[in-house]
Amino acid sequence: MDKLIIQGGNRLSGEVTISGAKNAALPILCASLLAETPLKLSSVAALKDIDTTIKLLDMMGVKIARDADEVSLDASDVQSFEATYEMVKTMRASILVLGPLLARFGTARVSLPGGCAIGSRPVDLHIKGLQAMGAAIHITHGYIQASTLHLPNRRLQGTRYYMDLVTVTGTENLMMAAALAEGKTILENAAKEPEVVDLAECLIKMGANITGAGTDVITIIGVEKLKGADHNIVCDRIEAGTYMVAAAMTGGEVKLKNARADLLDAVIEKLRDAGAEVKVSKVENTITVKSDGKLKAVNIRTAPHPAFPTDMQAQFMALNVVAEGVAKVTETIFENRFMHVQEMQRLGADISIDGNTALVKGVEFLDGATVMATDLRASASLVLAGLVARGETVIERIYHLDRGYEHLEAKFNALGANVKRV
Ligand code: EPZ
Repeated sequence: MDKLIIQGGNRLSGEVTISGAKNAALPILCASLLAETPLKLSSVAALKDIDTTIKLLDMMGVKIARDADEVSLDASDVQSFEATYEMVKTMRASILVLGPLLARFGTARVSLPGGCAIGSRPVDLHIKGLQAMGAAIHITHGYIQASTLHLPNRRLQGTRYYMDLVTVTGTENLMMAAALAEGKTILENAAKEPEVVDLAECLIKMGANITGAGTDVITIIGVEKLKGADHNIVCDRIEAGTYMVAAAMTGGEVKLKNARADLLDAVIEKLRDAGAEVKVSKVENTITVKSDGKLKAVNIRTAPHPAFPTDMQAQFMALNVVAEGVAKVTETIFENRFMHVQEMQRLGADISIDGNTALVKGVEFLDGATVMATDLRASASLVLAGLVARGETVIERIYHLDRGYEHLEAKFNALGANVKRV
């Protein structure tokens, strides 16, 4: 099992290029199942979750060619319509093949995702939405067995569907399903995350008729067929946010390239509240973060986009741990997304948890120690803490990091950090 060894205390400076968004690439790779001709993608990051998705699609018979950050996917001859438990248990986002398989082939057998470290994360809204479009869905032996073969022309039927909760992949699954359904679908209380917008933009290039992506009402008018297209994946706002916090915490000056500030309003505002200087160039898509390392604690409350993103909660917890003052961090999206807290306490953090709110009292310094990564963003927050801790921090189980951060140690070391993978 790989681990990271970090010598803390270095200020970060220089430039870092942000990769394509993991959470845009995953649904867009699955959207290839909808097209009769090849979908060509660029800025597809080299990440574990992306490898897993490509392997899943390959097992279904999608012909895939990958060269650096470019991937082309040809779903003209799909043989299997199944995502097995083995695949889904390694990556719950495999659920994103359900909508496309049903829409294009009328049948799908997808394992229910098991539990997850950060919360139960059910997929009931995905299923209810597809049932609202007429799909016959049975849950048997841990699998979602879905079919539209009983429907007129074997096609999903457009409908108006209100989602009880804002769900990112739920919105994405239903948008992809509706793209080939008969008639109009209106998704209400839809997720507005930039990754949902990027998927919609890609589907529109493929011939889909979608309006309203990025608002809470998305209207999709089904078409007969979709074709391949060329699409460049949007930059990863969470990777960008992570490097921005690292620059602020270490008291450095870092320029991020391929970083769209318009996707990070809430994060930029909080960094400025903490006392970091954030300069933005919308023309060049760069964000420069500069700080003297003496930050003020900032209150955080996560909520769906455009509010403060839950995927940045752990990173700002790390910032607050070494900031001046006391701050509250409230997690409203997932019921168990504080696993990084116990690990940070091993480094000397002063955090107390009351339900879904953590009270963080800034401390003078952290002491390096051995800690354990528990989920993707928690792992990132431990790297940030290790960058400022005194002495050596060892992070175990860093396979979590490899799911969402491309070339992490190379990027941090190029900025002057001292991070070794062993
Ligand atoms: C997406 O997960 C992201 N993953 C997550 O990023 C992100 O944290 C999350 O959205 C919230 O922004 C991908 O896009 C691949 P949800 P998703 O459905 O879609 C509940 C990362 O770090 N819910 O928006 O699974 C659910 O339990 C990952 O990159 C239901 O109850 O999240 C949660 O409490 C972690 N029933 C809330 O809604 C459903 O059918 C939001 O979940 C669906 C969701």
